[in-house]
Amino acid sequence: MNPEDIREKCKEDSVRIEGISKRFGKVQALDGINLVVEPNSVFALLGPNGSGKTTLVRILTTLLKADSGTAQVGGFDVVGMAQKVRSVIGLAGQYPAVDDTLTGRENLEIIGQLYHLGGKKSRARASELLEQFDLVDAASTRAKFYSGGMRRRLDLAATLIAKPLILFLDEPTTGLDPRSRLALWEVIASQAKDCNTVFLTTQYLEEADRLAHKIAIIDEGKIIREGTPGELKKCCGGESRISLTLYDRVNTQAAADALNSLAPGKILSSSETGTVSLPADGGSGLLSEVVRRMDSAGIVLADLSLKQPTLDDVFLAITGHTAEVSPAAGSKIAGEVR
Ligand SMILES: Nc1ncnc2c1ncn2[C@@H]1O[C@H](COP(=O)(O)OP(=O)(O)O)[C@@H](O)[C@H]1O
Ligand SMILES: [Mg+2]
Repeated sequence: MNPEDIREKCKEDSVRIEGISKRFGKVQALDGINLVVEPNSVFALLGPNGSGKTTLVRILTTLLKADSGTAQVGGFDVVGMAQKVRSVIGLAGQYPAVDDTLTGRENLEIIGQLYHLGGKKSRARASELLEQFDLVDAASTRAKFYSGGMRRRLDLAATLIAKPLILFLDEPTTGLDPRSRLALWEVIASQAKDCNTVFLTTQYLEEADRLAHKIAIIDEGKIIREGTPGELKKCCGGESRISLTLYDRVNTQAAADALNSLAPGKILSSSETGTVSLPADGGSGLLSEVVRRMDSAGIVLADLSLKQPTLDDVFLAITGHTAEVSPAAGSKIAGEVR
């Protein structure tokens, strides 16, 4: 099939997943996943460690077989037409796959040759990508001297050598410092055009919010909510909040009551931790009003802050609990750098 035909075919649906399940021993890693990803869009699968993100990416990129269900990528079945799927996708795994002993340029050129681009085209494509990913100055430096952010950019550049139509990025910015993360976000955002679909996984609400047109939240192998960033903000605590920590948690209910009329039905409180929070969409006047009400109720605050929402907040709103990891996945919770 020539590239134009593939491009045409890819326009139908970029990714279509129906009833995909996968079990590893006692762990039900995926439990009946249904999803459709439209072409020319960035799609984010948002969930904590151990929720099944990598397993789904591995199934969609033909590296792993599901126990049941079907999936098409670029219109091709991931099992029956695995070879075709591989010809239209690019994958940047959770851990960058760069060869430390090679320079940035060599890493890219070798991948070009693996794709049979030929020496001349590989070199040209490598130069183009080094430029695009701000790696020109480091092109002749061996990758072992690269920072985390540079390695991620090189890895991402390598997946783009053959101009894939559908790009899978498994936690592309986990472990990066904020500056490198911002730089990578710009590059990722620029990929979703001309039928270049991006399917990314992340633990960061902010990342999904900034990049994705559509977000699906995964918890213990199930999709628990889907929508645009705006929809998720409205329904599920995805907005910034004013958060109060009380000096004495005995006062939690009294504090929630005193604040209730500021955001009826939208106050979250936990008497276990002595925290109360409310949406911060009332402008700067809201903060002083909160303080005034605590003052007149005689409630002493240990901390008062404006909190950007996290995955935990969204989980709390949807499920009533924070994003805990399934026991098999080992360590802690959303937001943790792994
Ligand atoms: N090859 C495997 N063998 C056994 N268990 C696995 C394997 N891969 C993943 N799991 C388990 O499946 C669940 C989902 O894992 P994973 O897809 O890696 O989650 P995420 O990428 O969201 O962190 C976890 O409980 C994990 O321990
Ligand atoms: Mg993973």
